[in-house]
Amino acid sequence: MKIFFGTSIPVDIRDQFSKYLQTSSNLKIERFKDEEILPTFDESVRGEEVFIIQSMYNSDLIMETLLIVDAAKRAGCNSITLVAPYLPYSRQDRIDKHRSSIGSKLISDMLEAAGIHRLVTIDLHAAAIQGFYNIPVIHLNGSRIFTWYIKSLKLDNLCILSPDQGAVKRASDFCKAFPDASFAMINKKRVKPNEIHSMELVGDVTGKNVIIVDDLSDTGGTLKKAAELVMENNAKSVYALCSHGVLSDGYSKNLTDSPLLEMIVSDSVPTALDKVKENDKLKVISCVKLLANTIEAISQKKSVSETINSI
Ligand code: R5P
Repeated sequence: MKIFFGTSIPVDIRDQFSKYLQTSSNLKIERFKDEEILPTFDESVRGEEVFIIQSMYNSDLIMETLLIVDAAKRAGCNSITLVAPYLPYSRQDRIDKHRSSIGSKLISDMLEAAGIHRLVTIDLHAAAIQGFYNIPVIHLNGSRIFTWYIKSLKLDNLCILSPDQGAVKRASDFCKAFPDASFAMINKKRVKPNEIHSMELVGDVTGKNVIIVDDLSDTGGTLKKAAELVMENNAKSVYALCSHGVLSDGYSKNLTDSPLLEMIVSDSVPTALDKVKENDKLKVISCVKLLANTIEAISQKKSVSETINSI
C-alpha cells in the first residue's frame, strides 16, 4: 500500500495521517504558467495498492485529482483508491429543473474514466450517488465524529433537527446516539442556488437545546435561517453541525449574525482549519482518524464497518 496526498491536504493534516499510516510525499505536482497541472510519482508504484487523499473543493482540484489518478494508472499500479472526504457537485444529484446538468454523475464518469477502482467518501449530499459509480463506494457516516463533542456539551432537553427534507435520514441517524433526544425538521423551499424561499418548522422545539444536522454549509444561509426559525419558536439554544465546511464568502457574517452558539464542521474541506481563526463560533473536528482506519481496513482486507464501529 502507498498513500499520497493531493495539494488540497495541508501539512498538519498530512502529519495526522502519518501518525496512523505510513504515507509518502513522493508525489510531485508542478504547475505551469498557464495553470496546467503535471503530477509525477517520484517513486515506483508498479504493482502497488495506491491511495490518493484529496479534498476536491474547487474545479482546479478536480482536474488535479484526475491527472494524479491518470499518472498512477499509467505508472502500472495495481489499484487506485481515491479518498475524497468531500465529494463536490453532490448537490447536483438529479435534474431538478428542466435542462440542467447532473454534476455528481459527471464527476463519477470522470473519476472512473481516469482510472479509480474504489472511492472512499464522507456524507454524500444524497446517498443514492453511490449508484452512479460502477466501482465500490465506501460511504462513511460523517456525523459519528461529532458525537463525543455534542455529548461533552452536556445539554439537556436535546432536539435533533433536520434543516430540510434531504437531511432527514442523516439527522435521524445522528439522533440514535442520543436516545432521549426529540426530533424536528424544516420544510425548506429554494428558488435558486444559495437563496432560500421559505422555511416551515415541523415539530416542537420549545425549551429545547437544538442541534441542526446538515451535510454541508456553503454560505451559511440555510443554517442562519434555520437557527432563526428555531429561536423564534422558543428554543433554549441552537447549535449546528455539518460534515463539510465549504464556507464560501459571506458565511462568516451569516454565522456571526445568526443565533447559532456554534457551528461544528469537520476538516473534510481543509480550508475550514484556517477559517476557525476568523470566527470563534466555528469549531473544527478532525475526520483523519475515521479515514485512516478505513484505509487500514481496506488494505488489510477487513470489514470497514466493523473496524470503524470498534473505534
Ligand atoms: C442543501 O440541500 C444542503 O444540504 C445545504 O443545506 C446547503 O447546500 C447549504 O448551503 P448554504 O450554506 O449556502 O445555505
